[in-house]
Amino acid sequence: MAIVRLALRGRLLTSTATGGLCHHRDGAVLVDEAGRLSFVGSWRAARRRYGGLVRDVRPSVIIPGFVDTHLHYPQTRIIGHATGPLLDWLTNSVFPEEARFRRRAHAEAVAQEFIDRMLSAGTTTAGIFSSSSPVATEVLFSSLAQRGMRAVAGLTLMDMRCPKALRVGRETAMRASRKLIKRWHEHDGGRLRFAVTPRFALSCSRAMLREAGRLARDHELVVQTHVGETLTEGKETLRVHRYADSYVDVYHRAGLLGERTVLAHCIHLGRDDWNRVRDTGAKVAHCPDSNFFLGSGRMRLRQPQRRSVAVGLGSDVAAGRSFSMRRAMASAYDNAMCLGTPVTAAALFEMATLRGAEVLGCADVTGSLEVGKDADMAVLPLRGTTADLDQLLAELVFDSDDVAVQGVYVRGKRLAPQASKS
Ligand code: GUN
Ligand code: ZN
Repeated sequence: MAIVRLALRGRLLTSTATGGLCHHRDGAVLVDEAGRLSFVGSWRAARRRYGGLVRDVRPSVIIPGFVDTHLHYPQTRIIGHATGPLLDWLTNSVFPEEARFRRRAHAEAVAQEFIDRMLSAGTTTAGIFSSSSPVATEVLFSSLAQRGMRAVAGLTLMDMRCPKALRVGRETAMRASRKLIKRWHEHDGGRLRFAVTPRFALSCSRAMLREAGRLARDHELVVQTHVGETLTEGKETLRVHRYADSYVDVYHRAGLLGERTVLAHCIHLGRDDWNRVRDTGAKVAHCPDSNFFLGSGRMRLRQPQRRSVAVGLGSDVAAGRSFSMRRAMASAYDNAMCLGTPVTAAALFEMATLRGAEVLGCADVTGSLEVGKDADMAVLPLRGTTADLDQLLAELVFDSDDVAVQGVYVRGKRLAPQASKS
């Protein structure tokens, strides 16, 4: 038996790579020196292998850390600025705040708040949009590196139709991206990765989108962007990018669609668009709370599911009003109910963990508690004490009022509530 760096005993719940849930009322995980899970199972079986010190968190539940597939670091301080719909909200609330991130001091202060809030919500992995400022993006990466989170993050590309303070020309943006790639891509054994991040087709010229596609191909990078969020945005996109047959086609022509592409929203997509998403292997970040807040519409989960397109959940802060993936799961339930196509709590839990990891291309190392994966975990206190799995899922997904996360770990290292404890 390998050396055990951390042993946790508690109720245990995880999705598994082979499908379905693994649940132990009295479970345990053992973490080896490299921060990987060397055992996941019942407490009795753990005890047979290991007789050392154990952190007993019962009756709390040990789950995989949540995976937030889509959110915006420079919007941390504008949650709840209700100036929507989308294009009005971007102009009135988002762009003025994102312009402040050219100041290093502002970027540094918000980066800490941003990471604190993700960790407080039990999120261990995130797909992050920075601002268009290379300085702020450098600050974001170094803060993530120092705090120990796992992330895929990128410089937000914008070379048109935005305030001058946010506009960064193609050459400058590409030079800055290459520098950030060199410094941060695959940092700490792949804990941090750089993502090519065109904001959306309305803020990028065709040349910028093509360059972005080339950069992603050259370095095998994740691409993250928005698509089909509102009808107005869609119409405007086709007015600006006249050569394209559809919004999705704008990205396809630029070489931006592929297996490492994460498309946020995907509300207003036609059948051909969905087929193209499937054919290219692109993935979806479903952001229901944001869609409600901006009145953008309701994503039809059945469309990707029917085509076996991977779907994760995104908080989409700050159009989403909470960093909590528990809130995102509840919103995704509401969204599906409104469409008359209910989704189970178990499916939502999987979307918020393992599917999210698949969407961000890191399901080989995180997203579930399975032997050999990194020990990325959250410990959540429970309100009820019921033994029933359905009741546990109901509580996890729908009953998250005032429940502080008890512990958050990445690679077995405790990052929250107290960063200094191992
Ligand atoms: N589309 C382009 N930029 C944004 C953004 O910051 N948030 C959301 N929700 N949609 C966008
Ligand atoms: Zn977004």
